[in-house]
Amino acid sequence: MTSTPPLPGAPGLAFFEDLRPPAGDFRADVLAGLAKPQKAIPAKYFYDPEGSRIFDRITRAPEYYPTRTELALLDAIGPERRALAGPGAVVLEPGAGSSVKVRKLIDALDAPASYVGMDISGDHVKAACADIASDHPDMVIGAVCHDFTRPIDLSALPLPPGRRIVFFPGSTIGNFELIDARALLQTLAGWLRPGDALLVGADLRKEASVLEAAYDDAEGATADFNFNLVSRINTELDGTLNPEGLRYRAFWNPYRSRMEMYLQAVRDQHFTVCGREFVLRESETIHTENSHKFTLDTFRDLARSAGLAPVHAWQARQQPFSIHWLECPGEA
Ligand code: AVJ
Repeated sequence: MTSTPPLPGAPGLAFFEDLRPPAGDFRADVLAGLAKPQKAIPAKYFYDPEGSRIFDRITRAPEYYPTRTELALLDAIGPERRALAGPGAVVLEPGAGSSVKVRKLIDALDAPASYVGMDISGDHVKAACADIASDHPDMVIGAVCHDFTRPIDLSALPLPPGRRIVFFPGSTIGNFELIDARALLQTLAGWLRPGDALLVGADLRKEASVLEAAYDDAEGATADFNFNLVSRINTELDGTLNPEGLRYRAFWNPYRSRMEMYLQAVRDQHFTVCGREFVLRESETIHTENSHKFTLDTFRDLARSAGLAPVHAWQARQQPFSIHWLECPGEA
């Protein structure tokens, strides 16, 4: 662990901890995913530096309502959150990405003591946290390169005392199978002590046409996001997947209440990854992502099943989207 303020290239950062997942993860996960009857690649591999840039483009696409809806909702609920959180909070953000949303949170809180951004993309999170640090010299700001689906020993971080608020916006929770979403909420609940809170964004069910447009924008940002995975496989894993023989598909699955995203073969193709041979038959798919959509009640039930107490939920008006304040039960 490095703890040498000021950090080179990241002035103002109190600490940067590099818990980068082993590079072999990508290789093993892709090879295992392509060997399944329904080929699949874990969605977390979208977020290399190029993928993070494309994701920022998605958030600006007119059809992609979640980001701007959640930002407006965060603005609207500022005073109430301030009251719920109290003074001197320590904010932890898994999957921090770019820092627009947490800035709204920090600005709405009462003299927050600390902010720690954590992301699988280490340089991205380091730069974003250094930016926040320069605007908030009175706060202890740290950055961690970490994949939040892996365990982390928080006691290894120099966190100041104070009420912890784990901030998990963007409906990232929706990218997980429900059983994994529950396990992830349990993991995040493990970062909390009684009375601490989890502030989490959860996208809500809405008309299929709105959803399908949001996940297949006219400008093609979401398609590019998916094709960037193909580039990653070809470049990093010595792959021969031909992107020209693939197209991007997104559809609403009402039975599982989720958007499902795929790369679909337009014709048969044989390809190799790390020297291993694979076949994609015409119209066969590689599943790249799910994005579950909740109701207030299905999300509260999920939270309860993870041992968290739903205390408050806010709903956006423009498009259905929700933010939940969940508390870790017990004596504070
Ligand atoms: C990671 C949850 C913010 O599912 O809406 C956006 C990812 N994928 N468009 C989502 C995503 C395609 C996104 N979140």
